Amino acid sequence: MSLKEHINKNEIPVHVAIIMDGNGRWARKRGIARTLGHEKGVDAVRETVEAATELGIKYLTLYAFSTENWKRPKFEVEALMKLLVRSINKERKTFMDNNIQLMTIGDVESLPSRSYRELQKAIADTSGNTGLTLILALSYSSRWEIVHVAKNIALQVSSGKLDPANVDATLFTSLLTTHSFPDPELLIRTSGEFRVSNFLLWQIAYTELYFTSTLWPDFNKDEFYQAIIDYQGRERRFGYTSEQIKKRGKGLTT
Ligand code: IPE
Ligand code: IPE
Ligand code: MG
Repeated sequence: MSLKEHINKNEIPVHVAIIMDGNGRWARKRGIARTLGHEKGVDAVRETVEAATELGIKYLTLYAFSTENWKRPKFEVEALMKLLVRSINKERKTFMDNNIQLMTIGDVESLPSRSYRELQKAIADTSGNTGLTLILALSYSSRWEIVHVAKNIALQVSSGKLDPANVDATLFTSLLTTHSFPDPELLIRTSGEFRVSNFLLWQIAYTELYFTSTLWPDFNKDEFYQAIIDYQGRERRFGYTSEQIKKRGKGLTT
């Protein structure tokens, strides 16, 4: 039996998020440039998107470039931005053929203008697609996002538009860049690091975490299936007791 057949089709997560890490180490192990690791990483993205589409996952968020990644050598940042444009153009047809909608989260306006334009074009072209929503986190950091919301709320309060008594988690969530997606049920991080590196801190409050030592360029469909199977074997309790969960069945949330 293949790994895929072990997946329970009735319990597919709606939203999976991935911290795609380890491109540099993958390249170093081979004595080649880090940028070649990033290029190979695009193949892993393609495989993962394909697997997610086949499973009927609705949202896939990929951490592609963090706010902190701007601190990397100029050469590497430029190579990543060029790779982004090239990959989007190459995959445009795949997005259309597979009914995939592209979206972004993060401070995308800070990207080089060419990358920003190509992204906006791909987002507009795929906006009518209704299958998988592929969300690229670009120039994204969770603290940046949360501070942005805090500022927005402060401005609304100081201008008298918002009563502080009405500030709650629902309002806060509605102002995040992720407001139109549900929180991820599953977060995967590759490369053997056990940290979340400023990714979706608010949104992963009750997300199941899955860590694998596989370096991102080696990640493939079977690795993805394995993560889903692992997720399906867990009991999500949201603060309730195990007995309560069993009695009330699935569908309990925070
Ligand atoms: C992830 O791989 C890609 C980005 C952060 C852009 P890394 O480039 O971080 O690879 P390592 O962690 O150095 O191996
Ligand atoms: C996290 O990876 C960001 C992305 C995958 C885009 P990093 O390689 O930047 O994370 P740290 O620095 O190891 O925490
Ligand atoms: Mg890294």
